Amino acid sequence: MQRISLLKIAHNTLKEHIKINDIVIDATMGNGHDTLFLAQQVGPMGRVFGFDIQQAAIESTIDRLKTNSYLNTLISFHASHEAMAEKIPLPLHGKISAIMFNLGYLPGGDKSIITSICSSINALNTACSIISERGIITLIAYPGHSGGDLETVEIKTWCNQLNKNQFQVDIITSAVANETAPILFVIRKHSNNN
Ligand SMILES: C[S@@+](CC[C@H](N)C(=O)[O-])C[C@H]1O[C@@H](n2cnc3c(N)ncnc32)[C@H](O)[C@@H]1O
Repeated sequence: MQRISLLKIAHNTLKEHIKINDIVIDATMGNGHDTLFLAQQVGPMGRVFGFDIQQAAIESTIDRLKTNSYLNTLISFHASHEAMAEKIPLPLHGKISAIMFNLGYLPGGDKSIITSICSSINALNTACSIISERGIITLIAYPGHSGGDLETVEIKTWCNQLNKNQFQVDIITSAVANETAPILFVIRKHSNNN
């Protein structure tokens, strides 16, 4: 059986959901692979708002989007995703169709700079309030590194307290799931009409 990575599952899930010209957020730009993926989904007239706390990540992402001719689609912030509500223009709140989190450290960068429980949970709460009806949040957590273990537990706890009438959560693990394997959370906001 061929194994499909959680990242690929996240991308496939988002691909089915995002439409051309949508407005989406990459909450953890890192090296910009996911940012480029999102830009390709929304197209040149759509918008990707991107966040990262490291200058190296911003530069890496900008380089990748420039090389692929998608730079105009990106509005990047050298800021924590906790600042999402302030950084995203107010008229766009409620109009964000997808928000992607890929937690942990910058691959190839400083492994001591990682996402933290507090900022991740704050950002998730904000994400839930600014996504559109039927909007989607994907989050990949990595319990295999120090700090990532507790963060993953807290994210599961946070998912459990979400209002089930408003949000549906799917938790997906890899075929070889063990305590250190990454976990994909897919959080879908229901429409007010269902
Ligand atoms: C696993 S990497 C993301 C990978 C990226 N999506 C890609 O496609 O290359 C995690 C990133 O989260 C960033 N990060 C850590 N804390 C953050 C925060 N509070 N707000 C935004 N980004 C943060 C790190 O700097 C790192 O670049």
